[in-house]
Amino acid sequence: MASGASRSHRNPLRDERDKRLPRIAGPCSMVIFGVTGDLSRRKLMPAIYDLANRGLLPSGFALVGFARRDWADEDFAKIVYDAVRANARTPFREDVWRELSAGFRFVQGTFDDDDAFARLASTLTALDEVRGTDGNHAFYLSIPPAAFPVVCDQLKRSELAQPHDGRWRRVVIEKPFGHDLASARKLNAVVNSVFPEHSVFRIDHYLGKETVQNILALRFANQLFDPVWSAHYIDHVQITMAEDIGLGGRAGYYDGIGAARDVIQNHLLQLLALVAMEEPVSFAPAELQAEKIKVLSATRNIAPLDENSARGQYGPGWQGNEKVCGLLEEEGFAKDSTTETYAAIALEVDTRRWAGVPFYLRTGKRLGRRVTEIALVFKRAPHLPFDSTMTAELGQNALVIRVQPDEGVTLRFGSKVPGSSMEVRDVNMDFSYGEAFTESSPEAYERLILDVLLGEPSLFPVNAEVELSWQILDPVLEAWAKKGTPETYESGTWGPASADEMLARTGRSWRRP
Ligand code: BG6
Repeated sequence: MASGASRSHRNPLRDERDKRLPRIAGPCSMVIFGVTGDLSRRKLMPAIYDLANRGLLPSGFALVGFARRDWADEDFAKIVYDAVRANARTPFREDVWRELSAGFRFVQGTFDDDDAFARLASTLTALDEVRGTDGNHAFYLSIPPAAFPVVCDQLKRSELAQPHDGRWRRVVIEKPFGHDLASARKLNAVVNSVFPEHSVFRIDHYLGKETVQNILALRFANQLFDPVWSAHYIDHVQITMAEDIGLGGRAGYYDGIGAARDVIQNHLLQLLALVAMEEPVSFAPAELQAEKIKVLSATRNIAPLDENSARGQYGPGWQGNEKVCGLLEEEGFAKDSTTETYAAIALEVDTRRWAGVPFYLRTGKRLGRRVTEIALVFKRAPHLPFDSTMTAELGQNALVIRVQPDEGVTLRFGSKVPGSSMEVRDVNMDFSYGEAFTESSPEAYERLILDVLLGEPSLFPVNAEVELSWQILDPVLEAWAKKGTPETYESGTWGPASADEMLARTGRSWRRP
């Protein structure tokens, strides 16, 4: 009690070690390869503006676009401007824009063009002078993995990858980190042959989401949940990432990749790791990673795979009031494509805490609605001292972490229905970000880009996590590859019947969020 009291009497605002103060990046620049792509316009450019608007970028920050287009700096600035006006989270401010855009440069070239990389090098040297970027440069590879080797090689040969005199060089890579364990290893070897592991930042944008970081706060800042956070009380865990959109326009990336590689290998297994891991010794990056690695090493598929996995492909149907086509009619997809747009797997975590608790992961396109959530579904009370009719509508207790939209946490439990009988029915107790906090949450990419510039690696999966995730997924992908065409489900529904059967076999069912 004494130590608690003395801590609460300390005035944290006077404490120089107060970690709540905003963290501002030091002098630096960022180069984006693949700057004309969709991700860059929808997420990266707006996030950079939002960071500048929040005062978190250094005043001389520079942004360099590298692409094939024959653009001048002004054309590039116009593209960024349009992207910011369309997609930035924070209001547009002329003074912020003027200062930020003064640091925009464009380098025209292809990845195999040595001269273009020489021009990139001299552009960065010039920026060091005029913008004071001080030799600190981040290279964001928003490009297909097939292009990683050539770009890494060019960065090495043009000496852009090597830091000088205590300055830093970092590389940021976007998924997919390979398409199986073997290819991921090759890819990592290529990247690590140029950038040491501590300079490699692998983006999993789910880790940049506030609601995902809140899993750690919920679990480790409270006394309330830990005692029930185990096989003693939890029946199973459901991790759902459902999307209502289809894949029109994304064939180039998605055909042949599918839902499991696109989303389960990274986002959903990272969510599982955060839910299932033990408390880290501290939040130092290495400690956090160590716990995630431990839990992923203990994660296995539940056998037999046939009964404990499901995949589907959307057929025609409805999205809201709109009639939509099936995947095979979407532009760019092979007419006999076997790419799955829905994937579900059942895993178990072989540890004392989780023995016997299935973790069900599912994701899909063109489902009933867009929702990502983690539901910890509790065992039923061992005894109910009510007439059975009184509890006919009582389900299992659940703690639901609502990742998006409608961010928050729901606790579901039974409550007496007002009236003369002792009827008990499920009710919800809700925490909602919108109501609890006045500030809106930063976009995931704001947080992650800032962390790259600060050299703060906590929210970036390391090589070992990527490899372990492929190790979990590879056997499922192999089994599916042998089976040929996935089952079709109607757009706007909750996926293929086989996914429902997968849970029904053990007397469980998917939540209908
Ligand atoms: C990406 C996937 O990683 O996440 C996309 O490649 C998916 O297929 C997207 O649509 C969803 O992100 P969010 O943040 O909207 O849930």
